Amino acid sequence: MAYRCAVLGCGGRSGPHMQAYKDLDNMRLVAACDMDEKRLQNAGAKFGVPGLYTNLDDMLRTEKPDVLHIVTPPTIREGPIEQAGRAGVKGIIVEKPVALNGPQAATIAALAKQYGLKIAVNTQRRYASNCQAVRKILAENRIGDIVFVRGAARGNILSMGPHLLDLLQFFLNDLPPKTVWACAHGMNGYDYNHPAPAKVLARFVYPNGVTAYIEDADDAVCTPGEEGFWQNHRLDFWGSKGRAWYVQNHDCGYQAEGMATPVAEPTPWATEDLTGQREFTRAMGEWLADDRRPHGNRLDNSLQQFNMFMATMLSIHLRRPVEFPANVPADIVATVEKELKQ
Ligand SMILES: NC(=O)c1ccc[n+]([C@@H]2O[C@H](COP(=O)([O-])OP(=O)(O)OC[C@H]3O[C@@H](n4cnc5c(N)ncnc54)[C@H](O)[C@@H]3O)[C@@H](O)[C@H]2O)c1
Repeated sequence: MAYRCAVLGCGGRSGPHMQAYKDLDNMRLVAACDMDEKRLQNAGAKFGVPGLYTNLDDMLRTEKPDVLHIVTPPTIREGPIEQAGRAGVKGIIVEKPVALNGPQAATIAALAKQYGLKIAVNTQRRYASNCQAVRKILAENRIGDIVFVRGAARGNILSMGPHLLDLLQFFLNDLPPKTVWACAHGMNGYDYNHPAPAKVLARFVYPNGVTAYIEDADDAVCTPGEEGFWQNHRLDFWGSKGRAWYVQNHDCGYQAEGMATPVAEPTPWATEDLTGQREFTRAMGEWLADDRRPHGNRLDNSLQQFNMFMATMLSIHLRRPVEFPANVPADIVATVEKELKQ
């Protein structure tokens, strides 16, 4: 049986969402919706989508999808989730960031509960084969016990930050950190839909002693030779017996003590994004079919990462470490924004 799936939003990111269906057997793309008729028609023709709609409620009523992809800017999240819940949708794939602030995240969590929705947030990289390979290197202890991590991205903490935090948590087995201590400079200008500090440096300490420094900054040292902010993304791990790394659109690998040269493989973004998106999407179907196979990017994990973002904001504001679980004032993002603009 294949689940009936529909996509809301036919903008830049919707391409990989729709293309992923080419090679899926447990899910079928039946419809797409965009209020921009031209974008809708272009996407429909390019990906062979049978049902095309300019109104979400019309699409939900007519197509009765099992799964809705929400591929809209981050201010447009709760509305479509509620419409989908009311229409009987079972699974939601929603783009990152899951929310821009505390109240939005709380509303989404409440809607998931109210309608019994299985929600996965589209930080698809953990399903890419390169990232799976790095996780295996770490899980097999090939570099010994992890001691120190450095993660960096050039997009801000709400644009590339969700990918960076998701991969960090994936590689560290989704263990919640113990504390965060962060600082920031300036507000971001270019990620206008994702307003956040331009430069954030955060130190997370985990209960097992691992320390992770995370840098989301427009001039962070990331992928050699890449200009676009979305391609500048890396994580480096130092262990008791060696080091491992994932550098987007460059390479990933490891080198342990006693190895004369590293073992590495290329990380071509064009293919890795597509395989990651396809396997991420397949995992939603597997979760819908079997509660015992929860999605790696399920809302619980994403909200834990969102809490890491919120605690980072609180630490920037307080100028001291914040402990987890963090109880963060709902308006912390607006408070930090005001302070950074002064
Ligand atoms: N996972 C990734 O790797 C990745 C990459 C790029 C962007 N993103 C995320 O994807 C999201 C969308 O980004 P984008 O660049 O595709 O945005 P976009 O602005 O290009 O496209 C959004 C589309 O949604 C449509 N839309 C919005 N509200 C609608 C409604 N109520 N009814 C019908 N249509 C509606 C708009 O008309 C537009 O065409 C963002 O949150 C972004 O952060 C994720």
